Amino acid sequence: MGITIWKEKLFILRTEHTMYVMERDRRGILRHVYWGSPAGIEEDFESLPEENSENGYHPYVDRVMEEYSSFGAGHYKETALKLEYHDGTRDFRYRITDYKAENNTLSIRLDDSSYPCGVTLIYEIFEKEDIIRRQVQIQNEGDSPILLERIHSAQFGLPGTDYRSVNFNGSWAAEFRRSEDTLSSGKKVYESLRGNTGHVANPCFILHRNATEETGDVYFGLLAYSGNFKVVAEATPYEYTNVLIGMSDTDFAWKLDPGKTLSTPSVYCGYTAGGLGAMSQSLHRFERNYLMPGPFAGKELPVLYNSWYATYFDVQCEEQMKLAEKAASLGVELFVVDDGWFGTRQDDTKGLGDWYVDSGKFPDGLSRLVNHVKSLGMRFGIWIEPEMVNPDSELYRTHPDWVYRFENRKILQGRNQYVLDLTREDVADFMIETLDKLLSQQEISYIKWDMNRSITETGICGDGTVAGKQIWLRHMNNFYRVVKEIRARHPDVEFEACASGGARVDLGAMQYFHEYWPSDNTDPFDRLFIQNGYSLLYPPKYMRAWVTDVPEGPTSRKASLSFALHTAMCGSLGIGNNLNRLEETELALIREQISVYKRIRPVIQFGDLYRLKNYEDNCFWAVQYVKDGQSIIFAFLTQSRFGKNRWRIKAAGLQGDGLYQVCLPGGSVRKSGAFLMNFGLEIRLSGDYDSCMILIEQEA
Ligand code: GLA
Repeated sequence: MGITIWKEKLFILRTEHTMYVMERDRRGILRHVYWGSPAGIEEDFESLPEENSENGYHPYVDRVMEEYSSFGAGHYKETALKLEYHDGTRDFRYRITDYKAENNTLSIRLDDSSYPCGVTLIYEIFEKEDIIRRQVQIQNEGDSPILLERIHSAQFGLPGTDYRSVNFNGSWAAEFRRSEDTLSSGKKVYESLRGNTGHVANPCFILHRNATEETGDVYFGLLAYSGNFKVVAEATPYEYTNVLIGMSDTDFAWKLDPGKTLSTPSVYCGYTAGGLGAMSQSLHRFERNYLMPGPFAGKELPVLYNSWYATYFDVQCEEQMKLAEKAASLGVELFVVDDGWFGTRQDDTKGLGDWYVDSGKFPDGLSRLVNHVKSLGMRFGIWIEPEMVNPDSELYRTHPDWVYRFENRKILQGRNQYVLDLTREDVADFMIETLDKLLSQQEISYIKWDMNRSITETGICGDGTVAGKQIWLRHMNNFYRVVKEIRARHPDVEFEACASGGARVDLGAMQYFHEYWPSDNTDPFDRLFIQNGYSLLYPPKYMRAWVTDVPEGPTSRKASLSFALHTAMCGSLGIGNNLNRLEETELALIREQISVYKRIRPVIQFGDLYRLKNYEDNCFWAVQYVKDGQSIIFAFLTQSRFGKNRWRIKAAGLQGDGLYQVCLPGGSVRKSGAFLMNFGLEIRLSGDYDSCMILIEQEA
C-alpha cells in the first residue's frame, strides 16, 4: 500500500483493494495507465506500449488518456484547463518539473515550458477506505495576470466505452431520482448553473459495466463543492472514456494575479469490483471517518421535532409550547422552530433578512419558548436563511445595494427574494454578526441553514472592480468562510444544510454541516426512491427524515403511520406531524417507535448499509444496516400485487459462522449467518404500505 515512484517514470498509488498507475511517457505527458484491482508489481508496468507517433488525423494527445489536459495544443476532446496569458496565448504546454510523495500524498508539478505558470496535481490516498482525493493548484509565477476560464479538479481515463453512467434526474421535491444511461458516443454532461448544487443532478460520476449491488466494476468520484459544477463523461473514438469533474466553466472566469495560487475543490474518487453496494459502503465509511465535522461526527444525532409542516408560517408562542410538550412526551430530543419566527414573516413575501424575533408572535421574546423547551428536557433549534433577503424587508430598504444584480435590469426574484452579495465583506460580516448575536442571546443549539433560491445576475462584485464571472466562486468561498467562522464561535451548535430540500447535498457542504435535509417531499413512498438514490453516495446519518401528517402534501397519499415511521427510521429520525391534532393511538405508536429508534440508532447512523431489494416487482424494498454483530432490516411493501405476500430476502454483511438471534414481527428464531446470507429469511407483508423491521443480533 502507499505511493511508489518507480524509475522517475511510473507513479503508483495503492490502497487496500485498488491500484492507480500513471506514467510519464516519452513525450513528457503524464499518461493514465491503470485504475482497478491490484494488478501486479512495478516491473509489470515497465515498457508498456505507447501510442504510435503523431498522426495528423488522430492527434496523439486525443488518443492518450491524460491525467490533466489543457484546451488547445492539439486537443479536441474535453479538457481540464483553459487559460489565457497576457499576450493572448491560450494553451498550457507542460513538462513535469517536480514530484514528491509525502505521507499519503503525491504531488506532481507540471510547468508551462514557455510561461511562468505551474499546475500541481495532488493525489492523497486513504488506504483503508480505498478512496483517493484529487485536487489541482495553479500558480502564477509571472508578472502579468492569467485569465482562467476552466479549471477542473480532476480528469480520468477509463478503459473502453459503453459504461453505464448513473446520476440523478431530480427536481424540487423529487431529488435523487436515479437515472442511468449508456455512454456509447459523444458526451454526457451533468451540471448545475444555479449557484448551488441544485436538485437536478449531483456533482459526481458513477460509471460501471453491468454492476449490480453486489458485483461488478464501478468507478466513482464526488466533488466537494456546493456551487456550479460540471461533470463530463466522454466516450472517445479511441476506446477510452474521458471523465472530467470540477467547477462549471459556464460564465466562469478567474483572474490569477502575479504570485497567486488558486486551489480547486477536492474530488474524492474510488474504484471497486464489488458493485454499487461496495461503492456506497466505502464512501459512507470515508465520509464518516474523514469528512463529517466535529463535534457531532462520532455522536448520535438526536431525534428532532420540526414544526414546519404543522404550523408553516403561523408560528405562535403558545402553540409551539404545546407542540413542544407533546414532542417531549414522545421522547423527542430537539425541538426546532422553522421559518416564520422573525421580522414580519407572515408568508414568503416578506421579512427575510430581518433576523429579530417577531414580537407579535413572541410577545415575551423567544426565551419563553426556549426555556420551556429546555425545561422539557429538549434542546432548541431554529431555521434561518442567511444568504437571502425579501425586497419587502428592513434589510433591503436599508441596503438595496447588497444584492446581486445587473445595474440596468429589473432584479429577478425567486420565491420572492433576492440573493445577498456575499462577495462583499460588509455583507459577510453582517451574516457573521447576525448569527453570532442570535446564537449568543438564546440557548440555541441547532441551526437549519436554508437557501431557497438559485443565484442569478452576478453582475456587481464586492468592490465593483472585478468581473462578475468570478462571483460564482467567490460566493462559495465566502459562504464556507462564514459558516466556518460561526461554527468556530459556537462549536457546540449542530448545523443542518437545506436548500429547498436537497439542493445543497454534496461533500463541500458535508465538511461544514452535520446533516442534510434531502427533500421537502416527506411522502414515505416517494421517500423510498429519494432515500435509495441518496444512499448511493451519502450516509444515512446525514439524511434527516421526518414523519409528517397524512394525507401527504404534494401526493395526497394515505400511507400508514407505521410505514412512514419505518421509512424515516432509515435515516436520522425526525417528527413533523401536527402533534396537537393526532389521536392518542397515533401518539403512542410514534412514542414506541422513537424508543425503538433510540435503541437501534447506533447501527443506523454508524453501520454499513446494504440495499437488499430495490423496488423488486415494482413494489418491494429492503434495506439493511450492520454494525458490530448487530443488524437491522427494514422491508417495505408499497402495493400488494396478485396475492403475493411472502418475500425472501438474503441478509448481507454477517459472519457466516456466527449465530444470530433474529427478531421478526411474528417471533424470534436462531439462525447462522451463512443461512441468513445464503438461504435468507422469509417475511410476510401484505396489503398496501405494509412494512416491518427485523432485528438481528449475534450471540456472544
Ligand atoms: C424550504 C425548506 C423547508 C422549509 C421552508 C421554510 O422549502 O426546504 O423545509 O424550511 O423552506 O420556508
